[in-house]
Order: sequence, then C-alpha cells, then structure tokens
Amino acid sequence: MLTNEKAVSFLKQNPALSLSVLEKEAQLPVSTLSKAIGGDRQLNSKHLASLSPVLIKYGFKEFASSKAKIISVVNHKGGVGKTTTTLNLGRALVKLGYRVLLIDMDSQGNLSQALGHDNPEKQVVQSLLKGESLPIYNIIENYDLAPSDLELAYADLELVQAVGGVNQLKNAIAPIRNRYDYIFIDCPPALNIFTNSALVASTSCLVTLQPEASALKGVNNLFDRITQVRDRINYELMIEGIVLTMVDARLKVHRDMIDYIKDSLSSFKIFSTVIRQNVALKESQIAQQDIFNYASDSNGAQDYLKLAYELSGQ
Ligand SMILES: Nc1ncnc2c1ncn2[C@@H]1O[C@H](COP(=O)(O)OP(=O)(O)OP(=O)(O)O)[C@@H](O)[C@H]1O
Ligand SMILES: [Mg+2]
Repeated sequence: MLTNEKAVSFLKQNPALSLSVLEKEAQLPVSTLSKAIGGDRQLNSKHLASLSPVLIKYGFKEFASSKAKIISVVNHKGGVGKTTTTLNLGRALVKLGYRVLLIDMDSQGNLSQALGHDNPEKQVVQSLLKGESLPIYNIIENYDLAPSDLELAYADLELVQAVGGVNQLKNAIAPIRNRYDYIFIDCPPALNIFTNSALVASTSCLVTLQPEASALKGVNNLFDRITQVRDRINYELMIEGIVLTMVDARLKVHRDMIDYIKDSLSSFKIFSTVIRQNVALKESQIAQQDIFNYASDSNGAQDYLKLAYELSGQ
C-alpha cells in the first residue's frame, strides 16, 4: 500500500522526476507533491490512490518484490455473486494501483466470457493436467485473466486421479505469484476438485452470501471444508471474510436476514461494505465489460470500489 511516507521517500530518492509532470498525470493540484516533500502537507488517500499507478510507472517497486495475496471467491451455492465479485473487486483494486490476476476455475466459464474470452485457445485446464504454465491474457494494464471453459469439466476425474492433482493449481501459480498484488480465483458452485484446488492454492478465501432465506443452508459444509483444507494441506489458509451481495435494504426480509447472518456467523469477519442489488452489474456482464467501464457512477461501481478500499486497508 502506498503511504505518504513511502511516496515522499520515493520522490526524494528520484530527484530527476518532474513533480509537475507527476502531478499532471495523477491529476493532483499543482504543488501538492512539493508541499508533501517539504512536509507542509500530507498526501491523503485520494491523492495516494491516483498517484500510486503513476509512481509504479516511473519505477516505484513496492509491490514487485512482494508475493500476491491469493484469494478464492467461494460458495458452493450457485448464483450468489462469486463471479461478479471476482471481476469487479479485482478491477476496483486495479483502480487503486494494484496488479491483479483473475483465475477462472469454473467450467461454466462465466468470468472468462464476461471478459470477452468465450473460446480461449489456452486455458487453465492445460496447466492442471499437463503442467504447462498458466495461460495469461491481458485485459487492461495490470488486469489479467487465466481463462476456462467447458473443457475444464472433463478434467474432473483425471485431476482427482493424478498424483498430487489437487496441488497442480498451486504449482502453476507459484512462478508468477510475485508479478501480482492480488490473485482472485473464481470458484464453481460445488465443493469439487476445482474448489479444493483453489483452496489449496490460496492464502485466504472470500465467501459471498446473498441475504436470502436459504443463504445459511449448507454454509457450515463450506466452512467445514475450508477448515479441513487448512488443517490437512494448507496451513496458511485464512477466511478473509463474508461479503453480502445483491442486497436490497428496502426489503425487510433482507434486513432481517442480514441481522440473522451477522448473529449466526459472528465468529467471522463480515465486510461492512455490502453490494447492493444493481441491474447495471447484470447488464455489464452481458455487455462483457467491468462495471467501471459500463457504468462508473452506478451503485455497483461504488460498492465494489468501497469493498476494494476495505479489503486492501487503503
Ligand atoms: N449486486 C447485484 N445486483 C444485481 N445482479 C447481480 C448482482 N451480483 C450479481 N448479479 C447477477 O446475478 C447473477 C449471478 O451472479 P454471479 O454469476 O456473479 O454468481 P455466481 O455465484 O458466480 O454464480 P455461479 O455459482 O453460477 O457461478 C448474474 O446474472 C449476475 O449478473
Ligand atoms: Mg460464477
């Protein structure tokens, strides 16, 4: 995370950089940077968010040596906003200056389709079965995709039977982990070998929940599975938290359900940012765009940006 101190220290170490050019590119008011260097003002979080990608462009290397946080977006219940969250939370973090890779581990291929890769020639499945390097397609600067489609579904049995098959995704990610700040894995709606592989490869998982009557049905199975993977295979696996999606706060049933979820799952972090129901999110997926491209003023864009701030601690 870029802080006032890190930015000032970088600028002091690179006196050849033109402050006025940096201010222009980051759309900062004139003299903001010279005042920050002189200690006359602090760069606030808005300044830092727009300055971060500009400094990275000019060689600021904070993230280059660190390894990405690897986050599985998981819930075996279908249609609860996993893919939408992977896509748009990832994109929001790019807006904050982070480098992000999205990995599609769902044979429905919804994530890949939403990013315009309907029929990928190279896919994740080849890395899982043949040990090839992960296929990476650049979407926009600092925002990459490793795609999948139906072919992944046919790999199920072969991956289960392969020696160490469940470790293959982790192995495929290892060589590229230091190229990113965040790697999100979009999981399928099943507790199958692909979800297991994602949990084995991850440092944490993010659970999306819709505040519907059936939200908590089976959710204990999910937390049991996460605990099993952590206890038996991946000791560093944490639960990042629970994100409530498709929330309509005007509905009493949603408000009641949110209270009930907070009560029942009080031992887990529940993000204070909720993702509101927003038709633009649905439309953007059909238009094969992220929400920031499709409708930057929408509630969906605002909510995912807020979630990115909350997750990254910026
Ligand atoms: N906040 C929202 N408001 C309105 N529609 C939404 C919202 N989030 C997701 N949707 C829509 O709901 C549907 C299901 O969302 P999504 O595909 O993200 O769920 P999923 O958990 O990935 O589903 P699956 O389990 O099938 O992979 C999609 O059509 C998506 O566009
Ligand atoms: Mg999905």
